[in-house]
Amino acid sequence: MRILITGSRGQIGQCLRKVLPEDWELIATDSKTLNITQFENVENMVSVFQPDVLVNTAGYTDVVAAETDIERAFAINAQGTLNLARAAKKHGARMLHLSTDYVFDGKKTTPYTESDIPNPLNIYGQSKLIGELMALSFNPNTLIIRTSGVFGDRGNNFVRSILQKAHNQEKIRVVNDQICCPTYAFDLAATMVTIIKDYPELHGFQHFTGNEAVSWYDFAHKILTLAKLDTSLIEAVNSDNMQVSRPSYSVLTSENKLELYARNMESAIISTLEEMA
Ligand SMILES: NC(=O)c1ccc[n+]([C@@H]2O[C@H](COP(=O)([O-])OP(=O)(O)OC[C@H]3O[C@@H](n4cnc5c(N)ncnc54)[C@H](OP(=O)(O)O)[C@@H]3O)[C@@H](O)[C@H]2O)c1
Repeated sequence: MRILITGSRGQIGQCLRKVLPEDWELIATDSKTLNITQFENVENMVSVFQPDVLVNTAGYTDVVAAETDIERAFAINAQGTLNLARAAKKHGARMLHLSTDYVFDGKKTTPYTESDIPNPLNIYGQSKLIGELMALSFNPNTLIIRTSGVFGDRGNNFVRSILQKAHNQEKIRVVNDQICCPTYAFDLAATMVTIIKDYPELHGFQHFTGNEAVSWYDFAHKILTLAKLDTSLIEAVNSDNMQVSRPSYSVLTSENKLELYARNMESAIISTLEEMA
């Protein structure tokens, strides 16, 4: 199996590299070796390497900055995804593309399935939604994996930032009125490998997250409790005064009924703390 990964220095890209089977042939690119916004470079790389699967873990992921850095967010999340899909289609590659719970507006009170209609509340979500549409329109042999709240010992993520603030004895303000399912990066990466190996025909959408729905406040509390750090540093706030609108209920579920594994949140946090130690 030949795999081309974009964004391989990012949080999820790094995890994926770690869990790929050793006998798979890998070309791992990052923003310097393959800028996905440049179609000619993308086309050239795909043409030379002829991957069976192109996995896009590259993305513009700063939700706050995206509100003002709109062009760049769309260039990477929409145009970049389109470039990859066109090249994948031309060279007969399957594409796996990561997307987000933020394509939904969070107004439902039951988990979002793959058939629910997106309605993003912010620029990041809009750019990811356009990326989804581009990917599927230009290469029907694409699977879009929507996930949420990814954390682990690599890259920037919520667990790392909460621990850092607690170590610095900073007050930590966390919303208690937004619910999500935190997702352990290694479970997501392992799931991507399972999908490549065991579900070669799957295309369209697949939701994959951790299996516990919590508020960000409860998640932060759990992290500090398990790290044996001072939970009184956390202050619960509501999202009314936040700079960026985000879905209040962004719990995903899947109607595809695949056999995919996510460990429980507590053991995922413990594994993260152990890996960081
Ligand atoms: N993290 C989450 O909670 C979450 C939730 C849902 C969906 N997702 C999606 O999952 C994907 C990966 O997320 P992540 O957490 O791994 O993000 P991340 O740590 O921010 O990594 C994203 C990577 O994309 C690369 N990149 C940015 N612009 C690029 C460009 N023009 N060309 C090539 N590479 C570029 C960055 O490279 P440099 O490091 O060189 O800048 C970075 O390494 C994203 O599509 C994101 O939308 C993430």
